Amino acid sequence: MSIIKKLENDIKDILKTAGYEVDRVLLEPSNRRDLGEYQINNAMQLAKTYHENPRDIATKIVNELEKDNRFTNINIAGPGFINITLSDQYTCDFLNEVHEDVHNNIDKKEPKKVIVDYGGANVAKALHVGHLRTGNIGEALKRLALLLGYDALGDAHLGDYGRPLGLVLREIKERYPDLEYFNEDYTGDYSEIDLPITNKDLEEIYPVASNKAKEDEQYLDEARDITARIQSHERGYYDLWKRVVDISKEDIKKTYESLNVYFEIWNGESDEMEYFDELKKIYEDKNLLKESEGAQVVEVATPEDKAPMPPLIFTRSNGVASYETTDLAAILERKINYNPDEIWYVVDARQALHFEQTFRAARKAELVEDRVVLEHVGNGTMNGKDGKPFKTRDGGVMSLKALMDLVYDETYKKITNESIKEEEKKEIARIVAVAAVKYADLLPYRGTDYIFELEKFTDLEGKTGPYLLYSTIRMRSLLKKAGDHKATKITKLKGAAEKEIALTILNLPLVLNRAVEAKTLNEIAEFLYKLTACYNSFYAENKIITEEDSELRDSWILLTETVYNINMLLLGILGIEVPEKM
Ligand code: ARG
Repeated sequence: MSIIKKLENDIKDILKTAGYEVDRVLLEPSNRRDLGEYQINNAMQLAKTYHENPRDIATKIVNELEKDNRFTNINIAGPGFINITLSDQYTCDFLNEVHEDVHNNIDKKEPKKVIVDYGGANVAKALHVGHLRTGNIGEALKRLALLLGYDALGDAHLGDYGRPLGLVLREIKERYPDLEYFNEDYTGDYSEIDLPITNKDLEEIYPVASNKAKEDEQYLDEARDITARIQSHERGYYDLWKRVVDISKEDIKKTYESLNVYFEIWNGESDEMEYFDELKKIYEDKNLLKESEGAQVVEVATPEDKAPMPPLIFTRSNGVASYETTDLAAILERKINYNPDEIWYVVDARQALHFEQTFRAARKAELVEDRVVLEHVGNGTMNGKDGKPFKTRDGGVMSLKALMDLVYDETYKKITNESIKEEEKKEIARIVAVAAVKYADLLPYRGTDYIFELEKFTDLEGKTGPYLLYSTIRMRSLLKKAGDHKATKITKLKGAAEKEIALTILNLPLVLNRAVEAKTLNEIAEFLYKLTACYNSFYAENKIITEEDSELRDSWILLTETVYNINMLLLGILGIEVPEKM
């Protein structure tokens, strides 16, 4: 249990000794540190239950609190607010607990199995800036969930189903008509065929095919036909499609990894659609499919709806399943193979209707029990200065690689340390670029949009990734310089700066809990900045290494180590790596 929780429970017991029962004592840091570091507000409510004057109640509680040497400067303000300050001895004690193991300062949640669906990249298309936020937020939420004791799995949920793949294969057929994949008489092993196509080709092929299909009816029909052949696992087409998916997947994996995004499950929509027949049977048996203009639909509107709620299209008039249906199949597949307690969909907030329809249809068919949480964790977009999703200079969709190159050029320029060799400099610039982008991406509340500002995000000063990295590396080198020191406990503190660090650390479990409840990383990003800034002002005020009072010096080193450990833990949760130097 976290220190602050234990303290709240202890104070609850102290209230009991004073003669008062409460459900819970809530310790929120006060912003008038001179009056007290925390305020206990229970007297007001107790006055109603016990029909006593709140100030009298407060006085009795204060008498008990005064017997406890963990508290100093105990006073009553206004009608009965009790202010308390934590004693230096107690502050040292809890810092030591955190120093020993950061996890001593974290409240675990009830264990639960969670699937986080946060990839959504589409096969044979380059990852673009829209995939940045879902990847970053999803990965960080998954790591946070794991830290708090959930069993969390990330699912890439690749878009590999439907027409785009048919189009790609149609265009490959145009360019390489003699490929054995298209030869009906071929009986050999497809894996031995030399396929002259790279991922770069695929990224070029898709837009070409998609444009051709807009102008050429026959081309489109053929692509449709190929799509149907892939979906019915027809020899040749199906095998070629599998290879295209593999080529693309390889590249998608690398791009995600360059952003420290990793998935445990690499399913695609097509894997989920293996459960389509089973899914369809459930809907048929429950009589949930209605015919509408040749399509099969599920009614999902309710009389309470204020906004229009169109029916979910299960299969179109040509028999092809919709995007919604792929998500229904995914729910069924996950239920069968993982039986999760919760599924979090970290996907662009503009897909809200899609998920509302999907979840309602899933509930109607009872694909999962009522207790299972299905939640669309909608994210805002990263915009350009014009307030629209960030584009290339000529107005096209910006690929994720192009964006990272842009940031890399900037972070590379900013490394001025002459002692760093070229190769190393490149590697550091890459790590710093990722940190700059990820921190800026996670700093705003996840649902709000933000504007891409290259200068600001890569700045060494202010609320930025580079600032956090720089400061954390400085802590690390201080620890290295301090070398072996015998002290194992923080025993002495000097001023307000250290106290500020300690109180900030005490607040961490609250921050983590709120973050996971609201499924947003902004408070963690803010916390990192606050703790680091507090530490840096302490660092500026004191000469730690050369401090003559050896007890103080050792305590300061251990305090530095505590802050360093917390920074490393939280940067890790955000998916941010720390370079050796910068
Ligand atoms: N591939 C989809 C797209 O590009 C996003 C998938 C989001 N995840 C999901 N389970 N629907 O729009």
